[in-house]
Amino acid sequence: MERPAWAPQGIDITVPSVSRIYDYYLGGSHNFEVDREAARRAMAHLPGLPKIMQANRAFMRRAVRYAVSEGVTQFLDIGSGIPTFGSVHEVARALAPEARVLYVDHDPVAVAHSEAVLEGDPLAGVVAADLRKPAEILRAHAFRALIDTERPVALLLVAVLHFIEDSEDPAAAVAELLDALAPGSVLILTHAAYEHIPSRQDASGVVGVYRDIRKPLVMRTAEEIAGFFAGTELVDPGLVPMAEWRPEQGPGEEAEPYANSGYAGVGRKA
Ligand SMILES: C[S@@+](CC[C@H](N)C(=O)[O-])C[C@H]1O[C@@H](n2cnc3c(N)ncnc32)[C@H](O)[C@@H]1O
Repeated sequence: MERPAWAPQGIDITVPSVSRIYDYYLGGSHNFEVDREAARRAMAHLPGLPKIMQANRAFMRRAVRYAVSEGVTQFLDIGSGIPTFGSVHEVARALAPEARVLYVDHDPVAVAHSEAVLEGDPLAGVVAADLRKPAEILRAHAFRALIDTERPVALLLVAVLHFIEDSEDPAAAVAELLDALAPGSVLILTHAAYEHIPSRQDASGVVGVYRDIRKPLVMRTAEEIAGFFAGTELVDPGLVPMAEWRPEQGPGEEAEPYANSGYAGVGRKA
């Protein structure tokens, strides 16, 4: 089987990865046939998946710009994925060249590619760690070197919490991370949901594909997702379909029915 130079040694390229499937939806090239096959099966149920992912990235960029406009120039992006066009450090630095960014992912390809992209960058780094173990993130050398917890931080949990099942208590992980951050920090979050997806039945098919590859995709209700913001105050317009969060685009995005799948919100820690 193919093993390109960018694939870290030791990874099992016969098992699909959430990170590489997402890379494929976004038109990236860091994926294997096993990932593409899973992505194609999911897209057979819901052809708009790439549109949903593009809307997710567009929200993320708007929210990063919002954070900078509020004076937040430190970013902790957990479940950051394989770097693609318009990453957090690029978007933030367009407005604040001094912005510091720490990426965290548990996927070896995401980590290796982030390392390559960030090589020689003193104000950005990547840690291989798991969102379900926040203490390991908080005591990582790169975290302590890059992030000043006395000043506000933007914590990004973008399209990642829906990969953590209730039995693993994702809300406790979010709370532990927020607890470590200074007042004025912001939580930037998106999450998959059945509401607003053009076809609920087709979305169930996608959930089935992820179940089959043993990477459960947990759809949550708006109320459940709002619970992740405990300890913060949602900024306007609150928790809303992704394309409705402070849209700044020209024509197109809002007209795209899939762009409103999933919820997005930003909460500010008092
Ligand atoms: C759908 S991608 C989202 C990437 C990026 N945040 C974005 O929205 O464009 C989800 C990412 O979360 C990562 N991930 C999933 N569960 C994780 C966990 N428990 N700890 C750390 N990363 C995780 C996956 O490896 C993948 O790279």
